[in-house]
Amino acid sequence: MKRAENVSVVPLQQPSTIYVTKPYLPPLQEFLPYLERIWQNSILTNGGPFHQQLEKSLSAHLGLEHLSLFSNGTLGLVTALQALRITGEVITTPYSFVATAHSLLWNGIKPVFVDVEKHTMNIDPKKIEAAITPQTTAILPVHCYGRPCDTDAIQKIADNYNLKVIYDAAHAFGVEKHGKSILLNGDMSVLSFHATKVFNTFEGGAIICHSAKEKQRIDHLKNFGFIDEVTVVAPGINGKMSEINAAFGLLQLQHVQHAMEKRQQLDANYRELLKHVKGISFLPHEADVTPNYSYFPVRIEAEFPISRDALYQRLRDHDIYARRYFYPLISEFPMYRGFPSATTQNLPIASEISKRILCLPIYPALTAHEQERIVDVISGA
Ligand SMILES: Cc1ncc(COP(=O)(O)O)c(C=O)c1O
Repeated sequence: MKRAENVSVVPLQQPSTIYVTKPYLPPLQEFLPYLERIWQNSILTNGGPFHQQLEKSLSAHLGLEHLSLFSNGTLGLVTALQALRITGEVITTPYSFVATAHSLLWNGIKPVFVDVEKHTMNIDPKKIEAAITPQTTAILPVHCYGRPCDTDAIQKIADNYNLKVIYDAAHAFGVEKHGKSILLNGDMSVLSFHATKVFNTFEGGAIICHSAKEKQRIDHLKNFGFIDEVTVVAPGINGKMSEINAAFGLLQLQHVQHAMEKRQQLDANYRELLKHVKGISFLPHEADVTPNYSYFPVRIEAEFPISRDALYQRLRDHDIYARRYFYPLISEFPMYRGFPSATTQNLPIASEISKRILCLPIYPALTAHEQERIVDVISGA
């Protein structure tokens, strides 16, 4: 009785409110057999059977070989930097979620911010070289909104200067270029399976690497550095994914294609509905890229009648919660703004985009009718 009362005090969402995203959840009935199996096994974590199965199934789904699950993407980033023994300075983008740069500070590494390209919103490879110093050891780019970075240009610079490349691929689940996963670029890539992502395990993440040896080191690091019952070889962390999250991931994997198709329809619908709204622009899809439709960012251009912030507020007044991803820039937060590379003069394009961007709601359960409601509010109808 007590337990049921506790459940009933958790508030339900207002049905008319539209948030920027709504996590995809398969039918609850389908998850119950997985829970029963966990209860039968009494294995809750520490690389249990669901964890092992999800690593295999995800690797097959994504078309890669070496993947290590994590309890979230942030610990994946922190651990990837540890696994590659990155120190000193790392070149990164200010136009991302704050966890990208936080993973550097947690490793005692100095972030060096480099501006982004206007049309991809990813780090501009042409500006990387000028930011390299004798202390630079790596580049940490982000495939922002799941749109691939210029990986060839970045790799060329890394090879010339003997730098490692770690991709923050938190947004890039399932994205392919020329038919190959973009997660295979660089030395390592890190995914997030947070509730807001196209593939979610409530919380979760993964590191993708290139060899069984590297995966083994990552697996040790995410388990406190233990290699056997009595031997600890590194100051590792607890980054393990639990069996509940892994089991949920296996079920999600059965639904992910359907969820992606829904997103694709919504993406196409937005493009159609918004194409005649003056002052609203959006990024075109690239011909050689299989996207994942994870976000729908629009730019509020100067000719739009009101500012980005006024539009954001107008949408909120209509119970529509779009998000200003990414505003403020990471370089504007108090723990970063003192770094020499954090100035607006060094980051003019990121600063400009950050003032104009708005991510519109996109998630599989969003209806065409709700999209029309959103676009009506935008166009002031
Ligand atoms: C670009 C980026 N990097 C890192 C993260 C951190 O991932 P997590 O929330 O799984 O820790 C996120 C989002 O959550 C993100 O959007």
